[in-house]
Amino acid sequence: MLIRSPKRWQLPESAATPEDVFLNRRVLMKGALALGTAGVAYGAATRDANALFGLFDGDGGNDVPLTVEGDPTADLYPAFANPDFANGGRALTNEIDAATYNNFYEFGSHKGIWRAAQDLQTRPWAVVFDGMVEEERTVDIDTLIRAMQLEERVYRHRCVEAWAMTVPWTGFPMRDLVEYARPLSSARYVRMETFNDSSMASGQRQTWYSWPYTEGLTMEEATHDLAFMVTGVYGKPIAKQYGAPIRLAVPWKYGFKSAKSLVRFTFTDERPVTFWEEANANEYGFWANVNPEVPHPRWSQASERLLGGEERVPTQLYNGYAEEVAGLYSDVSGEPLFM
Ligand code: MTE
Repeated sequence: MLIRSPKRWQLPESAATPEDVFLNRRVLMKGALALGTAGVAYGAATRDANALFGLFDGDGGNDVPLTVEGDPTADLYPAFANPDFANGGRALTNEIDAATYNNFYEFGSHKGIWRAAQDLQTRPWAVVFDGMVEEERTVDIDTLIRAMQLEERVYRHRCVEAWAMTVPWTGFPMRDLVEYARPLSSARYVRMETFNDSSMASGQRQTWYSWPYTEGLTMEEATHDLAFMVTGVYGKPIAKQYGAPIRLAVPWKYGFKSAKSLVRFTFTDERPVTFWEEANANEYGFWANVNPEVPHPRWSQASERLLGGEERVPTQLYNGYAEEVAGLYSDVSGEPLFM
């Protein structure tokens, strides 16, 4: 993965939606919820804010999509903000910055893939549960999402390339998805797979990568309280560039573990070889836990740049979640846990 500077077309900080606009929208929305008119008022507030900041104006101004228009689960947003995960420990990243600086190699290897990612067709969308499960199943994404209790959690995200953001994801614990899949007790890992369709994802025409994108977790990791399936962001159904309609967030690991636009969960007793591990096992291992003291072979991991500016802050062990997750690795030895 390359480190690139933000592109010229990115909004200047002054033109982007400030965090307090997002927060004010939430306050407004909460009031509207009390009146039982949340959908209408929140939608209107969002449109007003978008008009104010020149989004979706269709007249050559900035038109960064911040959700998928017409998403059939839109009525579920915004979800209950879980107070146990309400504070990511840092200021929220500006929404436009998060929505315009992405890694999604299916649509290109540069950070400005948000435009190309709009070619992603997110409906119909099926999710398969297979491998070591009581019964293999294919489930429509809307059935799956409606079977879950959605909540909002603010998480830090640390890319292996040494940039970071703090965002309010909406979704449900991965543990609930594992329960839904009914794996056999002999399953030790879950392998996740992204869609594979080069007709809509131009990056998948690049044959030097081994598509589809895959990732994997141990069952202990997948059922840890922090492992989160993401279906929304900033109080709305997740926009395509973030990995709609469903992605993972494992905040104590480098960002490449948080696979996007998932279509398959395979339970297995063999450790999966993941997309980046296959591409370059010396740089992107299976565990990929964040550690400032273990440099990437080509750069230091001691600090990270916060999206939206040039400020750098010290990187923390397990991205600041050591208290919660260090115990997962107490019995693992002789493994490169931090790359
Ligand atoms: N998932 C897929 N399918 N394809 C990708 O290229 N990139 C990963 C991860 N998930 C990637 C992916 C990397 S390297 C990071 S840092 C995060 O997505 C970026 O998430 P964001 O674009 O929402 O910030």
